[in-house]
Order: sequence, then C-alpha cells, then structure tokens
Amino acid sequence: MASLFTTLQRSLKGLLILIPVLIGLVMVSPVEAARWDSETLTVPGNPEGTEVTFSEQEINTGRKVFNTSCGTCHAGGITKTNHNVGLDPETLALATPARDNVDALVDYMKDPTSYDGEYSIADLHPSMRDAELYPAMRDLTDEELRLMAGYILVAPKVQGTAWGGGKIYF
Ligand code: HEC
Repeated sequence: MASLFTTLQRSLKGLLILIPVLIGLVMVSPVEAARWDSETLTVPGNPEGTEVTFSEQEINTGRKVFNTSCGTCHAGGITKTNHNVGLDPETLALATPARDNVDALVDYMKDPTSYDGEYSIADLHPSMRDAELYPAMRDLTDEELRLMAGYILVAPKVQGTAWGGGKIYF
C-alpha cells in the first residue's frame, strides 16, 4: 500500500511538471500552425493569377532545394551581389514580365532574363540552360523548380520583410 502511495505521489509530481510544459506547447503551437494555413500556402500560379496551393511538405522540400542550389547568393531572399534585384514580392512583381508567380519563376530558372526582360542573362545567372556554368542546377527536376518557386513565394508570407531583408536600394 505504502509503495503504491509513493508511486502515486511521484506520478503526481511528474504531472505537476508536465502540465505547465504542455500548456506552454499548446500556447505556442497555434501561432506556428497559423503561419502554415492554406491561405499562407496559396500563391499565384501563373501571370493570369490562377492560384496554386502547396502542401507544407512541398514548401519544406522547396526550401531545402533552394538553400542548397540558390542559398549562396539568395539566402533569406536577398541577392548578395545585386541588392536591387532581391526575391521579395515587390521586386518580383515589378520585373518585366512580373515574376511574382510560380510559372514566371520557373521560366526564370530555365532561362533568366534581365530585370527589364530585354535580354537573356543565362550566361551570368545559374540556370537549367547553362547547367555547365553552375553544376548545382544540373540535376534539378521540373518538380524541384516548381517547389522552389513555391517556397520563394510562401517565404515572405511567413517571414514578412525579413525575407529579402526589407527594401534597401544601393
Ligand atoms: C551565383 C549567384 C547566384 C545564384 C547561385 C543564384 N542566383 Fe538568382 N540572381 C543572382 C543575381 C546576381 C541576380 C540579379 C540578376 C540581374 O541583374 O537581373 C539574381 C536574380 C534572380 C531572380 C530575379 C529576381 C527579381 O526580383 O526579378 C530570381 C527569381 C532568381 N535570381 C532566382 C534564383 C534561383 C531560384 C536560384 C537557384 C536555383 C538562383 N537564383 C541562384 C545571383 C544568383
């Protein structure tokens, strides 16, 4: 009887520690979850504005591929060597043609053009077209390009202006 009592007492003590921890988790998780609701995961799929909803898993994959393939120059959505042409939504939207949708971003990765759309920069920017120039691009599949585009568009909705570092003109 005595040992049952001590066991109970111990479990109670354990509960007393566990409960605040659980409450803490419950208080934190809705905030986390809210960042990844379907509204957040829905972005323009093409220039006509047809929307596409990614899964959280797809965006996570997109993030990993992006960090590996593009992170050296675009970590956090900035462009290290040209701060005027970052990956933030406003800058993407003001390019010609606008790049703030999945199809346009995938096009860019296949055949990048100058910000005004006037000429190809495939010899300067890593792309599928010249995978020799930048081997990290060589093995990317169309699906991976699509997921990276999704990540580029979802990231600012999650990170706010931290994605692209806010607007700094040099
Ligand atoms: C070696 C550095 C480097 C790497 C690696 C790189 N980029 Fe870039 N990226 C740039 C530079 C520089 C620019 C600005 C080009 C210009 O002058 O228009 C740019 C521009 C862009 C733009 C246009 C942004 C806008 O606002 O119009 C997109 C989109 C982009 N990169 C996507 C990617 C993706 C996706 C990857 C990975 C697959 C990638 N880049 C890898 C250097 C890089």
